[in-house]
This record gives sequence, structure tokens and C-alpha cells, in this order.
Amino acid sequence: MTRQHSGRRPTGRQGSGKQGSGGPGSGRQRSGRPDAARNAAYDLMRAVDERDAYANLLLPALLRKRGIVGRDAALATELAYGTLRGLGTYDEIIAACSDRPPEHVDPPLLDAVRLGVHQLLRTRIPPHAAVSATIDLVRHRVGPGPSRYANAVLRKVAGRTLEEWLAIVAPPLDEDAAGHLAVAHSHPRWIVNALRDAVGGDVDETAALLAADNERPRVALVARPGRCSVDELISAGAEPAAYSPYGAYLPEGDPASIPAVGEARAAVQDEASQLVALALTRVPVDRDRDWLDMCAGPGGKAGLLDAVAEQRGARLLAADVQYHRARLVWGTTRGAAVVTADGTRPPWRPGTFDRVMLDAPCTGLGALRRRPEARWRRDPRSIPELTRLQRLLLDSALRAVRPGGVVAYVTCSPHLAETTAVVDEVPPERAEVLDAREFLPEAPGLGGGPHVRFWPHRHGTDAMFLALFRAK
Ligand SMILES: C[S@@+](CC[C@H](N)C(=O)[O-])C[C@H]1O[C@@H](n2cnc3c(N)ncnc32)[C@H](O)[C@@H]1O
Repeated sequence: MTRQHSGRRPTGRQGSGKQGSGGPGSGRQRSGRPDAARNAAYDLMRAVDERDAYANLLLPALLRKRGIVGRDAALATELAYGTLRGLGTYDEIIAACSDRPPEHVDPPLLDAVRLGVHQLLRTRIPPHAAVSATIDLVRHRVGPGPSRYANAVLRKVAGRTLEEWLAIVAPPLDEDAAGHLAVAHSHPRWIVNALRDAVGGDVDETAALLAADNERPRVALVARPGRCSVDELISAGAEPAAYSPYGAYLPEGDPASIPAVGEARAAVQDEASQLVALALTRVPVDRDRDWLDMCAGPGGKAGLLDAVAEQRGARLLAADVQYHRARLVWGTTRGAAVVTADGTRPPWRPGTFDRVMLDAPCTGLGALRRRPEARWRRDPRSIPELTRLQRLLLDSALRAVRPGGVVAYVTCSPHLAETTAVVDEVPPERAEVLDAREFLPEAPGLGGGPHVRFWPHRHGTDAMFLALFRAK
């Protein structure tokens, strides 16, 4: 995994801090072999680097296959996710402790050292245990020679706290704010710049947003109306959500073990994702029969829209350009018709629909909390192509809706190029811009309007953008 710049102390789960040999926190076994949790965290990091694996998809399967549960599973998750998030910071520190830059270090060795740095600087694992467990890992997984390099680097790293290292390796905030935030919060500089622009330039708010990206998101659930109630989720151990009338948060446990989730009456869904879908359903229209979800896969918003549509006697058509993503929508909906279709060359007739959801493909910069490695994989060079597609899809959505009907343009990116720059191009003679805040009265802090922005640091949700249009 190539790195850029780095991050701050997550307040989520720490290492177990257990002392003594053989415990999951110390990670040492009497044989000097690396323990199961660190082996799993290391294998995950290598898979992310070598095979472009998605950490959040691979790790649960890997833990299950190896029978790693309980505290060991929590430790493996904390080590792997924390290291992947923080590797921008860690690489700067490794560079300061090494005679060669990280990009000249053999990637398998570098990943093991990064895991060691994470344990030293962001967990309560005792330093001697963090160092010796990492040396064991390197010796067994990389080789005896490289373990000397790891030992030398980690002993230097252990000499200072994270704050002390940041004071050395991060550019001063007043000289280079983006550079400082990039290193201190472990984000690529281009993402820091994009997020700073999106929050309006405020450095403190940007820092808060970047810090929130380094937190592990809570598990949000939706009770699909008419099929499940929030009370049912609460009786299964969830807590009511802050804003969404259909939302709940699961403080612990596996959501898949909740019967309503297994039966697709409820689902895991970010609260902002619920709210932007609800906003579309709340705009008054004089005919409310035909709804379209134009980019529906894998079906989160379609699942909620389908449930509300059923209650109202409306029909939902859900489309996605990718067959396998369209198929996933079958699993989240009951009454919807699902098609594989390119929204830029649609099979439906213009002027057909009363409500259209366009949840456009985007960089996903608003959902960085969910995929620890995602920030290092996003490429700013993808933005022109994405924004071209977003414009084409929005144009198509406005054609699909009948006069008086409503279009919601949604992205899980706050990037200005993917949000305001796209929606501002809609000519006033084609559509009226609605004040989207009016349709989300339960949510505070949505910005100055007319469009709505949800934020991880303000709402505890993904960063999500919503613009509402009424077609003329
Ligand atoms: C942000 S995701 C949608 C997420 C979905 N609405 C949900 O809530 O689960 C964007 C989707 O757009 C689809 N997509 C990309 N280009 C498209 C096109 N030209 N026409 C239709 N769908 C497209 C992608 O396959 C992807 O599934």
C-alpha cells in the first residue's frame, strides 16, 4: 500500500493492554512465534497491498476461517484497521528513524514495522511487548536479517510519544496547514485540500472532520417502515438513532444475528443515507405513483424507498448499470422492479416518474471511515471522469421526471467538484432548486442551504450531500 500522510489517535478500541507473555495484548507466545491476532492483522495488510483487498470485507472472513474470536479478534481488527488508517503518519515517523525512505523498504517488512509503530504510539500495549512481538513477526514472516532493521527502527520510535513525533515530522500548522493536517491526521494532502474546501476553508473544522474519519463508525441500522419497527431493533439490543425516525445504532454484536436484518426487514445503513432518501419521499407532489432509483446498487436507499413506496401504493423501479449490483437490489426490496440499465442511456420513457433518486457514483470521500485503506487508493485523476458522468446522470434524471416531479441528487462525497459544481449547472428554466433542509427538520447543522450536507464530525454520519430539484 503506497502511503501519503497521516493521522491522529483514534478513540476507538485500543489494544487489550494485557501484560505478560502469551496474552493477546502482549502478543508473545512462549515459542517466540507471532500470535494469531498479529498474524491476521499482518496478513490483512499484505492482502490490501498485494491484491487490493478491501480490509472491511476480508478481515471478518479471515478471522472466521482461523477461528479467531473475542479479544483476539478485537485486537486483530484494531491493529489492522488502525495501522491502515494511520500509515501516513507512521511512514513519516519511520522515515525519521531510518536511513532509507519507506518507499525503499521491502513492502512486507514495511507493513510489519507499521504494525509495530501503531502498537507503540496508539495502543496501551507495553512498549517492550510491542517491539518484541513485532520482531517475532518479522523474523517468522519476513526473515531474520530484516528483523534487525525492524528492531533498530522500533527502538527509536519507542523513544517518543506520538505528539512528540508529530512535532518533529509534521510541517508547522501556520506555515503549511494542509501539510500539517495531512501528517497529523493521516490523509493524503489532496484529500485534506478537498475537505477543507468543502467545509468552507476553516482549518479547525477540517481537523475535526479528518479526526472523525479516523474513528470507527458505529453500526447504524434502518428499520424498513411497514416491515420492522425501531422498537423491534431496540429489543434486539440497538439504541435509537439521533435523527432518523427509522434509525438505530447497535453498540455491540453482529447485526446479521438480528432476525429482522436476516429477513431484510431491517438493514445496516448509515443514518445520513436514510435521511437523504426520506427527504426525497417528503417533498409534496401532485401525483405520487412512479418512483425511480437510477443508481440503486447495492440497494441501501432502494430498500428504504421500496418500503415507503409500498406504504403509499407507489411503484419503485430500481436500476444499476452493473448486473451484479442490480442483483443485490433484489435482496433489499420486495415490490420494486429491478433492471440492469445505464442511466445515461435509459430504457424508460422521459417524463415518466414522480420521484427520482440519483445517488451518483462518486469518489466516496464522505465514507472514508468505513474503509481504512480507501484514502490511499482514491485518485484525484478520477474526478474529471466522475464529474462528467455525474452531469450526464443528473441531466438524465431531470429528463426522467415529469414536470412537477422531484429529483434528489446525492453523493457520499463532499468534494465541491462532485456536489455544488454539478448541481449549480442545472439551468433554472429546467428545474427549481428546493431548500432541502425543509424536508429534514429533525437534523440540525445542515449548512446554509439550499443543499444539505451531513458530516461525520457534526452528525456522526458519513459525509453526504443532497440537492433537491422540482422539474419544470
Ligand atoms: C453510490 S453507488 C449507489 C448506492 C446505492 N444507491 C445505495 O444506497 O446502496 C452508485 C451506483 O451507481 C452505479 N452506476 C454507475 N454508473 C451508472 C450508470 N451510468 N447508470 C446506472 N448506474 C450507474 C454503480 O454501479 C453503483 O452501484
